[in-house]
Amino acid sequence: MSRISWRLAPSLIALAAFAVGCHAPGAARAPAPTNGPAAAVRANAPAPYPPGWPLATNAASRAVHASHAMVVSNNELASAAGVEILRRGGNAVDAAVATGFALAVTFPQAGNIGGGGFMVIRMADGRMAALDYREMAPLSATRDMYVDSTGHLTMKGRVGPLASGVPGAVAGMAEALRKYGTLPLSTVMQPAIRLAAEGFPVDSALSGALMGAQKLLMPFEGASLFYPGGRALAPGARLVQPDLARTLRLIAEQGPAAFYTGAVADSLVAEMKRDGGNITAADLANYKAEWRTPIVGTYRGDTLVAMPPSSSGGTTTVESLNILETWPELPPAGSAAAVHDVAEAFRRAFIDRNSELGDPAFVKNPVARLTSKTYADSLRTTIVAGKASRTPAFDAHGESMQTTHYSVVDAQGNAVATTTTLNGYFGSGVYVRGAGFFLNNEMDDFTSQPGTPNQFGLVQGEANAIAPGKRMLSAMSPTIVVGRDGKALLVVGAAGGPTIITATTQIILNVVDYHMSLADAMAFPRIHEQALPDKLVYERGGLSAAVEDSLKVMGYELAPVGHLANANAVLRVPGGWVGVVEPRSTGGAVGY
Ligand code: DON
Repeated sequence: MSRISWRLAPSLIALAAFAVGCHAPGAARAPAPTNGPAAAVRANAPAPYPPGWPLATNAASRAVHASHAMVVSNNELASAAGVEILRRGGNAVDAAVATGFALAVTFPQAGNIGGGGFMVIRMADGRMAALDYREMAPLSATRDMYVDSTGHLTMKGRVGPLASGVPGAVAGMAEALRKYGTLPLSTVMQPAIRLAAEGFPVDSALSGALMGAQKLLMPFEGASLFYPGGRALAPGARLVQPDLARTLRLIAEQGPAAFYTGAVADSLVAEMKRDGGNITAADLANYKAEWRTPIVGTYRGDTLVAMPPSSSGGTTTVESLNILETWPELPPAGSAAAVHDVAEAFRRAFIDRNSELGDPAFVKNPVARLTSKTYADSLRTTIVAGKASRTPAFDAHGESMQTTHYSVVDAQGNAVATTTTLNGYFGSGVYVRGAGFFLNNEMDDFTSQPGTPNQFGLVQGEANAIAPGKRMLSAMSPTIVVGRDGKALLVVGAAGGPTIITATTQIILNVVDYHMSLADAMAFPRIHEQALPDKLVYERGGLSAAVEDSLKVMGYELAPVGHLANANAVLRVPGGWVGVVEPRSTGGAVGY
């Protein structure tokens, strides 16, 4: 897709009166603060929720405080697995790997060993790292493999054995542990093995996900385990996964080789052969997790450590924040002017994301330019107070929350942000016989047909076209904010396709700009703008009627949805850490 040029109204100021609280024209980039309250841990300000916002009720009660360490994920048992490893002397990376493997057991709708993810690490000694364990297209993949002879996009990129990229999760977690962990794989995998072998009570999230995915999963091998008697496992039912336990034991004993060249690889390739899939032994043997140079940005004096391509998350988050930083101060949270500024920053960053980014092994990503302050300054001049910009429109697809993010900090101040996914809930639906895990449907994150939206409504360009051995562009945005005192301040990220980027950014804004408590920063209503489709998406009830009216007058087409994104975060506070599970979802913040 070629770059989109702005179609801005000639009058820049005519509608400014509607942008209540809008900025003075010509405001310059805010200088980075050089002083301030301890320059890191901040006092909280009340969050200006719109009237009747349900998540405002008891927001503070969702905050879990701990003085040493904290793990926050979408499953309490998986968070507890991380804390178990921390208590056994492990560091945040050991704990993150323990949580990651446990999520593959207790949160199989998104936690996985058959998918991939991204991990951002910031060690207390200042070392920063970004690990890319995104899936890769099989070597036999072709650019138009999901387009039929009549030129139509088929569902083969979303469902069934052709939808999967080569899984990266096991390689990634083992590599993170090798480089930054302190305990052996066999130790950090113990909680996951125990949960798989002995079983655990199914929670409402897994039960609900199974109910929603029944049509997808019934044709595949996992049906008998997850739908005994043809019905989804109910909350409280005990789920024992002996095949998965065996697979995890093999990985614990033999390392990632068990998965990529050993017995698990054999099962996976046999599953592919049985059903017409295309992942081969060579694909698995070739897979490698890649260390990347993290994107390091700044925002109002704090440092952002974020994920570079093959995820677009860090680039798009930092680009959006750089644009917003051009204003010395943002308008009040939730005001029409604030929504406008934030939406227009997102719109510009997403246009760049959708057209310019892809796997760095295949395309040259202009990350330095896109994340530079001077580029943000130039984009800022195209934002008109009180007037929505335009990008070409088409219909959106539904949005959901099928990835999973977890945030970990330890007593030394090491921090890990990890996001991992099968893409859709339970991925492609294919369950590897005898090995006990689902395979991703990550191939749909490629541009399967330029100009045609994927399942998240994203229209993407050639940079993200399918090619053998290529990683599909992601929106996953594991991010660590380091305070001005040089210590990890906020660990955050989310699930939700492209809404990952916008939710993560808004939580950062809520903490840094609006000084909200983490509980409020997470509960505060979210908006989403991804350039195409040209709609301002917002959480129903999240904007006051007056703000909705102002935004319509500015020219926004408003699209209310139920919920946007699923984030899990940790914030440093006086005396320790506070962890908050996504209030729109379920999970556990466990600390000590
Ligand atoms: O990598 C990505 O951007 C997507 N595969 C993430 C998918 C996701 O978050 C699913 N939940 N909506």
